[in-house]
Amino acid sequence: MGLKFVWEENYTVGNPKLDDQHKGILEMANQLPEVADGRDTRSIIMQLYKYVREHFFHEEKMMKSINFPLISEQQLLHENFITELNNISSEPIDSDERLHTLKKFIYDWLINHIMYEDKKYFQFSREQAKTASNKSDASDGKKQRCATKCKITGI
Ligand SMILES: [Fe+2]
Repeated sequence: MGLKFVWEENYTVGNPKLDDQHKGILEMANQLPEVADGRDTRSIIMQLYKYVREHFFHEEKMMKSINFPLISEQQLLHENFITELNNISSEPIDSDERLHTLKKFIYDWLINHIMYEDKKYFQFSREQAKTASNKSDASDGKKQRCATKCKITGI
């Protein structure tokens, strides 16, 4: 029943700070014991809850800064995650099965969310950067053409 998360390079969202936060969430989930051994899991869950909320705040702030058009969809998904996490942890996590359900929920949600939703803002920011660099290439080209023309005409 072992359930442990291993980070992979292709989980990146192109932002080292947000990548580190995603890793942090999963490391916290890894701290949850595999079996109900009497350890108090509440403090880990509370820590996780706080950390996830902070992460969503930073992620949404970044999305605003790049004018990401799907921000309200993301906000809704984030709210749903918090609600679901609340629901699952509202009852004591005191059996192997409940621990497994909680860990699986966190891993599945986060990996799916990173791979299908967060990747959209990664893609969007890459396209924006490309457009910006094309624009600057075009203006460099114009300057270049002018320099050549000016030399040719001797102006
Ligand atoms: Fe997200």
